[in-house]
Amino acid sequence: TRHLLGIKGLTETDIQLIFETADNFKEVLNRPIKKVPSLRDITIANVFFENSTRTKLSFELAEKRLSADVVNFASGSSSVKKGETLIDTVNNILAMKVDMVVMRHSSPGAPHFLSRHIRANIINAGDGTHEHPTQALLDAFSIREKLGEVAGKKVAIIGDILHSRVALSNIFCLQKLGAEVMVCGPVTLMPRHIGDLGVKVEQDVFKALQWCDVANVLRIQLERQQIKYFPSLREYSLYFGINKKLLNQLDKEIVIMHPGPINRGVELNSDVADSDNAIILQQVENGVAIRMAVLYLLAGVK
Ligand code: CP
Repeated sequence: TRHLLGIKGLTETDIQLIFETADNFKEVLNRPIKKVPSLRDITIANVFFENSTRTKLSFELAEKRLSADVVNFASGSSSVKKGETLIDTVNNILAMKVDMVVMRHSSPGAPHFLSRHIRANIINAGDGTHEHPTQALLDAFSIREKLGEVAGKKVAIIGDILHSRVALSNIFCLQKLGAEVMVCGPVTLMPRHIGDLGVKVEQDVFKALQWCDVANVLRIQLERQQIKYFPSLREYSLYFGINKKLLNQLDKEIVIMHPGPINRGVELNSDVADSDNAIILQQVENGVAIRMAVLYLLAGVK
């Protein structure tokens, strides 16, 4: 395939190839000289219609480490504000001889729509509540690094499952790699047919933590809520917030993950987020190697 639109379309072999390529790039990133010439003749546009810290900087760094030429587009300061459409915007960027587009958009399916209308490679950097494929790849890569392998591991995804593209991409990725997946959160923030995806569903956060080897903790996505959902942030933190006291009641150690940004004191307390159980910054570090691997593998496919 020319594009990375989601994890759903990947095979286990595709994911393992991305991991093996990322292993090589992670080794490169630990050298004094972190740059390789692989994408010297490639120009990449990072087209972001939604806010981002990690994904945007991580893609930009990955592109620069691969020696690509990079241009950045932020919709808030662009001619989108004057009414220009998505396709016109991207076709104008491509007219400047751009080869690959990394895109984040608030509408589910926006990169899929674009892929049918333009000739560049497209990488989905998050499309609304749908998928965030490179996040799931870096998450699974980080589990593999911490626990040796993903197959057979129990992963609980805890939080606002309804509005989370990270949850959906993680479910696809972890299942393809042979992990068992549980989702846990308030019933009002749980998609009605989530069980159809073959995941366990749990409303009691302590039971989820007791079951899992890894807890991937998500924030409440207030920006995607059209109506006020129960619970409020204060109620969420009371019933689902994860703190050291709760983890101390488990009869084992578990790995804590979070894609960021963290709302400290809501879904995760600082005594857990900053503890040795958490691999949150390792996830961010691995994101650069994973994105280098994805860009490198797609750049060769026209
Ligand atoms: N994890 C993640 O996508 O973070 P950003 O929204 O800051 O890119």
